[in-house]
Amino acid sequence: MKKFIIDADTGSDDAVAILLALLHPQTEVLGITVVSGNVPLAQGITNTLSTIEIAEQDVKVYAGAEKPLVRDYIEIHTLEEFTEHVKSLSPVSASAQSVHGVDGMGDIGIVSKSSKYEETGAVDYLIKTINNNPGEITLVTLGPLTNIALAIKKDPSISSKIDHCYVMGGTSDGTGNVSAAAEFNIWVDPEAAKIVFDSDLQLTMVGWDNSYKYAMLKEDEIEQLRSLNTKLADFSVDIQKVLINLTKEWYDFYGFDLPDPITMAIALDNSIIEESQDLHVIVDTRDGITRGQTIVDYFDIEDKNKNVRVITKSSNDKFMNMLLDLLS
Ligand code: RIB
Ligand code: CA
Repeated sequence: MKKFIIDADTGSDDAVAILLALLHPQTEVLGITVVSGNVPLAQGITNTLSTIEIAEQDVKVYAGAEKPLVRDYIEIHTLEEFTEHVKSLSPVSASAQSVHGVDGMGDIGIVSKSSKYEETGAVDYLIKTINNNPGEITLVTLGPLTNIALAIKKDPSISSKIDHCYVMGGTSDGTGNVSAAAEFNIWVDPEAAKIVFDSDLQLTMVGWDNSYKYAMLKEDEIEQLRSLNTKLADFSVDIQKVLINLTKEWYDFYGFDLPDPITMAIALDNSIIEESQDLHVIVDTRDGITRGQTIVDYFDIEDKNKNVRVITKSSNDKFMNMLLDLLS
């Protein structure tokens, strides 16, 4: 069994990614640490608990950072306000509730029966568990990298003890989904991302380009999920309600993309990777239009440590097959 720790800002796509790990037969999820991002921390914890409940599993959940390392963090509920905030080039970070719903789970009334999570903070849990399982932990990050950066700052030795870290974050092709330059997870906490990317952690970066190119579910794929007729497949589609409405508004078709699930799927089965390069990735922490940009050094101009496996192409077929298999 592969030992996984998941770090998430549990919103509607994180939840599907968590389900894939919980349901994968060769994977043991040791624990889930939560960070503010899509939604504030408390809501992210609730969403993580309700996801574990619907999977009928028992995994401990640890409270992590309520805000980025150095930036303030505010809730924004409407797309207009979020767009205005980003365009103002404010240094303050903001939630993605305009994309995933105020509750982060499509605002369809998902509630968690338990409120039992571990008071032992996420950072101490990460440090303890990684030190107790040197070379055995696969870490999958689905949100801003604040918890991971705090853990590395507190105990730098952990970055060489983690077997591999899969990061949903950044983009390999320069596109952005928050600003023209930045993907949300990196934009929220670029300082944390810089610490993680500059560490000697062995990383796989699954950028948002993989999501919009190879993990965009349209009418046909959604129908395939619905035809499974299972509560997990229906849950996975139902909680995308706000994102579906946004996709219709943005791209004029019915569907949604799944950045965290394709990252998790790649962590569970590397054969989903079709093209990748080991490169150095620079994170822009300056305020302004390029804040949070992941600059991929394709021509090794900086001559720095190529510790990041940058995924530039992945298999939509294999990803869909895993979704249909595990949610059936
Ligand atoms: O940019 C996509 C990422 O931001 C995903 O992890 C999504 O859940 C949000 O956290
Ligand atoms: Ca996420």
